[in-house]
Order: sequence, then C-alpha cells, then structure tokens
Amino acid sequence: MRAIRIERYGGREVLEEVGVDVPAPGPGEVRVKLAYAGINFMDVYTRRGVYAKPGHYAASLPLTLGMEGAGRVDAVGEGVRAWKPGDRVAWCLVRGSHAEYAVVPGSKLVAVPDGLGLDIAAAALFQGITAHYLVEDVGCLRSGLWCLVHSGSGGIAQLLIQMARRRGARVLATASSAGKAEVARSRGAEGVSGYESEAVMALVQQHIGERGVDVVFDSAGADTFDTSLRALRTAGLMVLYGTNSGKVPPIDPMRLADAGSLFFTRPRLADYVADAATLRRRAKDVFDALAAGALSVHISGVHDFSTLAEGHRQLEARESIGKSVLRIDSTVV
Ligand SMILES: NC(=O)c1ccc[n+]([C@@H]2O[C@H](COP(=O)([O-])OP(=O)(O)OC[C@H]3O[C@@H](n4cnc5c(N)ncnc54)[C@H](OP(=O)(O)O)[C@@H]3O)[C@@H](O)[C@H]2O)c1
Repeated sequence: MRAIRIERYGGREVLEEVGVDVPAPGPGEVRVKLAYAGINFMDVYTRRGVYAKPGHYAASLPLTLGMEGAGRVDAVGEGVRAWKPGDRVAWCLVRGSHAEYAVVPGSKLVAVPDGLGLDIAAAALFQGITAHYLVEDVGCLRSGLWCLVHSGSGGIAQLLIQMARRRGARVLATASSAGKAEVARSRGAEGVSGYESEAVMALVQQHIGERGVDVVFDSAGADTFDTSLRALRTAGLMVLYGTNSGKVPPIDPMRLADAGSLFFTRPRLADYVADAATLRRRAKDVFDALAAGALSVHISGVHDFSTLAEGHRQLEARESIGKSVLRIDSTVV
C-alpha cells in the first residue's frame, strides 16, 4: 500500500511516499481502508520532532504520518466485537492515517452516521471533539458569558465559535487578515480585531466595557499570551490550548494574582477523551450536529499523496483557512 513515511525529523523534504506492507490487525485492533485523512498542525509538529521525547503523543522513527482518518472497516483482530467489515468509522490521536490502510485500536474508533460524508468526518473529528471539550468542560460556556477566541478562522476556532454561540455565549475573535476576520464573523464572532494588544483591548472595551472577557481560548501562545491575560475580567479563565506562534515561557504564579486572580489551564484532548464512552459521546454530538446542519466545517484544501507537502507548507505559512484533508480513495464512501 502507499503511505507517507518519515525516516528522520526535519522540514517538508523528509516527507516521503513509499510502498509498505498492508498492516495486520492484532488483538483488539481494527484495520480500516481509508477514504480521507485529516491534515493537522500536529503532523507538522510530529515531522519537526516535537514528540521525539518520551511522553504524551511520543513518536519514534520511522513512522507513518497522520493522526486522523475516516473510512470503512476492512478486517478486525481477535476479540473485536463492536466493529465488523463495512462499518463506516473515523478516529484521531492514533498515528498512521496517511496511508491506504491503517490499524487502529477498536476503542479509538467512532461510528460515522450515514448522512455524513467520510471527507467531512475526516475533517471534523479531531478539531470538533477538541472544540467540544474546550467549550463544554473547560470554558463551561453558557448564556451571559463572553469569550475571546484567538485565530478565529482556524479549524478548531471556527468550530469553537459556533459551539459557543449554540450555548448562548458571546464571542470576540482575532485574526491576521480581513479575509480571515470575515470567516470568524461568519461563524458567529460579534467583533474581530488584529492581534496587537491595543486593538484587542479596544475590541473588548467596545463590546463589554472595562470588565473584560470571562474566558480566553488561545492557540497562538507566545505572541498572544500577555494580551490574553490583559483581556480577562477578574477571576477570568485563560485557556492555552496550542502554541502555533511558539512556546510560552514559564510564568510566575504571582502574574495570575496581579492580573486579577486569574485561572490558567493548559488542557490536552487526550485527557478529555480518556475512555471510549467519552470519546464516542463527543464524536456523536459533533457528527450529529454536522449531519443536521447545525454545525459546519469548511474543507479548505484537498491534497493527494503527491501534494501533501504543500498542505504542510500552507499550514506553516498561515495560508490555510479551516481544514485540509488528504484524499486517499474517494471510492470508499
Ligand atoms: N490542546 C488540545 O487539546 C489541542 C487539540 C488539537 C489541536 N491543538 C492545537 O490547537 C492549535 C490550533 O489547531 P487548528 O487545527 O485549529 O489549527 P489551524 O486550523 O491550522 O489554525 C491555525 C491558525 O493559527 C493562527 N496562527 C497564529 N499564529 C501563527 C503562526 N505563527 N503560524 C501559523 N499559524 C498561526 C493562524 O491564523 P491567523 O493567520 O489568523 O493568525 C492559523 O490560521 C494547534 O496548535 C494545535 O496543535 C490543541
């Protein structure tokens, strides 16, 4: 089968299309024939070697890239009862999806409803369940609360804004261009500014006055961290969920006190889908809302094996809006 492998960490030049054996599912595992796979910032981090050290999401070389996909079950390993060949499934946080077949633990699979395309499932699962836990269990958003969502045109951010609005919360956002600001507005942000601290503070002042926002969702990190703390109300919640602009330096706890008794969390999806039941509940909420048209995801780019490097380039160059996918076999439906 065809697969995108890396043998060493580095730039886009380390991405290689190779022919490898079709993997066999072991006990508890399921082999899936892929239709589409998601392309994520996490693939870029993996390629660069961010996960080379032991720890969460640890990677070792050589590896097949890709940690999100959708397709049909092709074979099941010993002891698998929940899945059978032909089932439409999706998964994330298991590496190896940038290939024609992937082997996935049965406990990491979720069902894709009949009304939902496998391209949308591959595009929406990882970012959708991330937005889901951030809105429901971290930000605990509800009517009357205001949040600030940085990089409002990003994949997670677009879903986050829609889910926040569905829960009755109100949203401000940042974006790096007029086009991206328009995308954030179209998802439900009431006001959007650039990233400069003064622009963000003026936006908050205009919509909420002196009080500040209740929650900030920050995936940029280094460039936005200080502004995020400034934008919060007393005892507000700072949620740092990504570091697209670089790592945040260690912070002195007194900074949280001085900024107004703030709460700070650096959450990780794996901890919010720790068991199969929680993963399936979140995925079902997201997929049902997509199938019903209550939530929408924009596929901004469709790449093939030969153009995957371009997908990475667009992510790194900040050109992508929403989500790109890798088309593996569009006859799998
Ligand atoms: N904690 C978790 O549980 C969890 C789970 C999944 C993903 N993540 C992380 O969440 C972040 C967002 O993921 P995503 O899938 O929504 O990404 P995405 O769709 O690629 O969004 C990235 C956006 O980040 C903004 N950005 C700001 N500074 C940037 C920089 N220096 N370089 C590139 N982009 C920059 C860009 O928007 P502008 O041009 O408007 O700035 C870009 O559109 C990633 O860091 C990802 O690893 C965290």
